Amino acid sequence: MTVACSAARLPRHLFRTLQCRRCYSTRAPVSLLGQQYPTDSMTNITSAIIDKVGRNLYMNPSHPLGILQSLISSHFHNFNSMVGLNPVVSPARNFDDLGFPPDHPGRAATDSYYINKDLMLRTHTSAHEVETFARGERQWLLSADVYRRDEIDASHYPVFHQMEGARVFSADAVGRAELEDDNARLSHHLARSNIVIEDVPHITASNPPQDVHDPVLAELVALNLKLSLNSLMLTLFGDRAGANEGEPLRVRWIEAYFPFTTPSYEVEVFFRGKWLEILGCGVVQQQTLDRARVPDSISWAFGLGLERIAMILFSIPDIRLFWSQDPRFISQFTAGQINTFKPYSKYPACYKDLSFWLPQTGLHDNDFCDLVRDTVGDLVQDVVLIDSFTHPKTNRSSKCYRINYCSMDRSLSNDEANSVHAQVISNLKDKFGVEIR
Ligand code: DAH
Repeated sequence: MTVACSAARLPRHLFRTLQCRRCYSTRAPVSLLGQQYPTDSMTNITSAIIDKVGRNLYMNPSHPLGILQSLISSHFHNFNSMVGLNPVVSPARNFDDLGFPPDHPGRAATDSYYINKDLMLRTHTSAHEVETFARGERQWLLSADVYRRDEIDASHYPVFHQMEGARVFSADAVGRAELEDDNARLSHHLARSNIVIEDVPHITASNPPQDVHDPVLAELVALNLKLSLNSLMLTLFGDRAGANEGEPLRVRWIEAYFPFTTPSYEVEVFFRGKWLEILGCGVVQQQTLDRARVPDSISWAFGLGLERIAMILFSIPDIRLFWSQDPRFISQFTAGQINTFKPYSKYPACYKDLSFWLPQTGLHDNDFCDLVRDTVGDLVQDVVLIDSFTHPKTNRSSKCYRINYCSMDRSLSNDEANSVHAQVISNLKDKFGVEIR
């Protein structure tokens, strides 16, 4: 590198991720799960994220995410349950294969983590649909860590966990008979359970079947999907102590849209006084099965976020806690049990405001959040944009963020908060060339 940039003065581990945009081309390769990847101008993965890859929280049977993962896997005990797939995928796998349009916002570097222009961290478990169908799996579950650039608050973390599930039927009389049998079995089970379901029609003009599908078969598949997931909701939420005090479990179905399914739905559950969005699902777009070379078949699929459900079931108030290695957190959970988390202490919040003039090129909220996270790790509890304006005369834009520094497991001294805040300011100036106000 001939032109020195201010980021070059940073310690080595920060230099890897915080050097200025001009220097990306000289950025060291990224090492993930023992594999080295070249970087380029698309690279935006940070060391805070690299450190999380391979932690596999959902595989720990006595971690809340692992407990929930096992509960769902045992509910679908006839399904092949897959874990441990490499999170590095091509954008083609993550988006194109699933019918995402070229201008879908999820593809933007502000929303996803790219290792380089050809590889990214999967943003959802659906990224593995084609390869899983292609292996000939007929009923399967897949659990994995997924990565999205996002805001910072108690329910958003750039790494989280999803489970994907799918069931394939043959698109003929055999499949039809299998569906009719299974639908009768599931309906019988649900009719005897304490559940009230607010349904929507399986198929409508705004939630249409696919042209290639026999509409009767598509209806049977949609019904099987709904019955299977209503039954899962009973396993997860029915009769949970104090959940609904003997009241029936209420499940609500809503029409939805996903590029890779039609018809599509969302499922909500009424739990402790609130409707909670639980999962997305639908009848798999035939192109996906075609791409996987699974002929003459029809399938449903669903995807759910483990953190969201675990936060509800275990009463975990802050998503960062899932990553805590504090024995006061870890020791509260036992394999196979859902219990209420008892907060051990609430440490004082320490708010610091940060106002600055944006660089000419602007600054996306997610770039700011990643920089904070990469600088201070889990000491940040939330970040809120409290002001944003453009000066009428100079046309310069300014933003003010309020950062809440608060450790999950200890009291943070004001000196320490000041020192990490100073580091954020310094990195922000170095990486984005902002002018502090
Ligand atoms: N991949 C979706 C997401 O991350 C969730 C999802 C929706 C998965 C519908 C599915 C599905 O398999 O059919 O938001």
